[in-house]
Amino acid sequence: MPLAASFVLPRRTVLAGLGVSLFALGLPARGLAAANPTILTAAPASLKLGGEGAPATATLAYNGTTPGPLIRARQGEEVFVRLVNGLDRPTTLHWHGVRIANAMDGAAGLTQDPVPPGGSFDYRFTVPDAGTYWYHPHVHGDTARQLNAGLYGILVVEEAQPLTVDRDLLLVIDDWSLGADGQILPASPADAMHAGRIGQKITVNSKPLEEIELAPNERLRLRIVNVANARVAAIAVAGLQSYVVAIDGQPTNAPFVPENGRIDLPPGGRADLFIDGVLEPGAPAGIAMNNAGEIVELLRLSQATGAPKRSVALPAPGPLRSNKLPADFALQKAKRFEIVMDGGPKMNASGQMQHPMAGDPQSIWSFNGISSSGHGGKPVFSVKRGTLVTLGLANKSIFSHAIHLHGHAMRILHPFDDGWQPYWVDSVLVKDGETVHVAFLADNPGKWMLHCHMLEHQEAGMSGWFEVT
Ligand code: C2O
Ligand code: CU
Repeated sequence: MPLAASFVLPRRTVLAGLGVSLFALGLPARGLAAANPTILTAAPASLKLGGEGAPATATLAYNGTTPGPLIRARQGEEVFVRLVNGLDRPTTLHWHGVRIANAMDGAAGLTQDPVPPGGSFDYRFTVPDAGTYWYHPHVHGDTARQLNAGLYGILVVEEAQPLTVDRDLLLVIDDWSLGADGQILPASPADAMHAGRIGQKITVNSKPLEEIELAPNERLRLRIVNVANARVAAIAVAGLQSYVVAIDGQPTNAPFVPENGRIDLPPGGRADLFIDGVLEPGAPAGIAMNNAGEIVELLRLSQATGAPKRSVALPAPGPLRSNKLPADFALQKAKRFEIVMDGGPKMNASGQMQHPMAGDPQSIWSFNGISSSGHGGKPVFSVKRGTLVTLGLANKSIFSHAIHLHGHAMRILHPFDDGWQPYWVDSVLVKDGETVHVAFLADNPGKWMLHCHMLEHQEAGMSGWFEVT
């Protein structure tokens, strides 16, 4: 039940009409949240990743489910969550992508002390931006293991004014490394040295596949979230009328049709799609992922034969109402910082991969030559509140990195002209050998993490923080 409920986000009006309470569906009711926290207990659990009848995999979960309970709030409202640590190691909750108050960011050692086993911590913050976000632990040295085991959940912030969509669905993509006994394998030192821990068992909402029927002329909003530790989800959309309306929570400048049906989502990334029920009857339609050449189906869509949702399909959507991010960036005034990503293996002259001499496994990767353990408490950069910052993210290594910034949304400078990509991100994929320029307004005071969201890289040194004073 909780999984089904978190896949299908029912329209509130429909719920009222059916006389079903939100609690019956396991969704936190809005309004009550302010007085009483939603309690999320992180604890051991189990999951049948191969569907019913499959062997149970020992996992970690919030309130026993992966993804954890869906947290919903309306834009501008307060979220009040109490994390209870039922694990045998410290943990926290980080609210990925939310432009949050610094003290609530959940970065252990930077914005709060880790919550010890048996302890609890209250997270109470307002959500400034509508969109799709997620939560997960952020405890250096154990983040990758905790996420790997299933500790994550989704935060949906509804638009202040409801949109014209008939259904709202989650597609939470994860990959798992399982042994022959069906149990989770720990990441290996080679994972940290290479592309991070890439699992071969791919799930959506912890199931092998989602299937839904679209009524004729129905419009659905699909919120795709990549929670995998290190995989860049190479998603293909086929046989559908679809529009990308938001990326990393923030509305795109204008909804666009994915180029060649492809969307590459870095780990931690989100894409919100509108999909219309105008499918060819009987033709295959859905969403799949390319897993090293093998096509893995994630969502199978078909056209229902019943009554249409409306007599004609909705017109192509206009832009979603913007979250009031700073509009125009005058780059002449920006403060510029270079961040060089390096470390890991190198290619020698004969094209063979050369591994660094065995050293500290937490110092394989670095920003500007410094691994996270070597920052000596110093920020990677520090700026005054209100400063426009540009970062030149230069990847000198032979692997890709997904650089994630806390507390802010950034824009990506188009490489060939002076324009911006028509969307905002909180993580940016920088392929091997590439340099990507991003800009953001440092308007959120505090100490913020800056790290590779390929979590095995983060824990092997590619992590730091910056300060907005
Ligand atoms: Cu998704 Cu620093 O985190
Ligand atoms: Cu990386």
